[in-house]
Amino acid sequence: MYFDPKPKERREDLYDRDKELGKLIDLVKKNAPIIVVKGIRRVGKTSLVRVALNESQRNFIIVDLRGINPNSRRDLVVRFQMAINEALKRSNVLKRVLASVREVEVSKFGVTISWRRASVLEDILLKLQDERFVVVLDEVQDARGPVGKYLASVIAHFYDYGDLPFILTGSQIGLLYDFLGVEDPRAPLYGRFLYELEVSRFTREQGLEFLRLGFSQLGLDAEDEMLEKVVEVLDGIPGWLVHFGLLAKTHGASEKTLEMTLSQASRLALGEFNEFLKRREVARRRYEAVMKAIANGKRTWSEIKRELEKHEGKTIADSVLSRILEALVKASFLEKIVDGRNIEYKISDPVLEYALKRGSL
Ligand SMILES: Nc1ncnc2c1ncn2[C@@H]1O[C@H](COP(=O)(O)OP(=O)(O)O)[C@@H](O)[C@H]1O
Ligand SMILES: [Mg+2]
Repeated sequence: MYFDPKPKERREDLYDRDKELGKLIDLVKKNAPIIVVKGIRRVGKTSLVRVALNESQRNFIIVDLRGINPNSRRDLVVRFQMAINEALKRSNVLKRVLASVREVEVSKFGVTISWRRASVLEDILLKLQDERFVVVLDEVQDARGPVGKYLASVIAHFYDYGDLPFILTGSQIGLLYDFLGVEDPRAPLYGRFLYELEVSRFTREQGLEFLRLGFSQLGLDAEDEMLEKVVEVLDGIPGWLVHFGLLAKTHGASEKTLEMTLSQASRLALGEFNEFLKRREVARRRYEAVMKAIANGKRTWSEIKRELEKHEGKTIADSVLSRILEALVKASFLEKIVDGRNIEYKISDPVLEYALKRGSL
């Protein structure tokens, strides 16, 4: 079933992605030490990784790092604990294996990890290595600060001295590269070989076929013209298409349902953008002004700059604007499109663009 809000687990529920699946399964079989799966939010990274690991018949844990507190070891331990308890549903091997680790308590309700002893996570990872697990760190760029540094150095240690494959996913691609330290010789993971895989949004044709098949799985009718419109507006982002499909289950595949999808999706997308702004309170209004300018069609450097200056009623230094644009690109809210000497900026998510155009923030 395609129209399901959760990440997919089984091959039959995943539309296409044959190439990406083949490549990922191959890398897992080869025991590639670090695999990086990148792509914008809701494009299907977690689904791809879950299906690939289920297909490759390896044991695995998926640590969800979305929104982790970058200063809290305790939060990190809790994330691992959740991942391990979820993995227990697939296989019982962990209960037996982890029973011998100090500060890990195993009961019939699952596994509890104490965060008091600093190296407890490393001991757990060693056990996972013995059992040939794969460790997925989902949305790893959210682990910044001390937690991120710690995680990166653990991965580097296993890369150098161990044999435990890590799959790292990230929606904020520039920040993902920051985590990996690709440009920073002092970063723990600098210089390590990364196998990279990109998950792209569906093409128009794929998006349309995805919707058609999704509706036929439900035995529901949907007019092609309507579905074409949906793909045009939501631009082949699987998560948004699924959102439309789910609403259409009760409300039908109509114009009104598309509006409903946009309004609910806008709230989600704006919420995520707000999370980003929270860490940039001082410059918040500038970020907003830049994003709104781009949403309203000002796509080149000079157009954006003029708009920002109009907004603030004073001149803005180039360096200020370039820092803002760079941060927005790093967090994948913007894409930088370079065509020869022409540079344009585009909002990656059509839903966020729609929401900003309407001025609600
Ligand atoms: N290829 C696909 N086939 C079917 N559903 C998909 C596909 N890719 C993504 N989805 C659906 O889209 C939503 C977002 O997918 P998810 O894997 O969580 O994306 P990401 O991890 O990139 O944010 C989920 O509802 C998921 O089931
Ligand atoms: Mg995900």
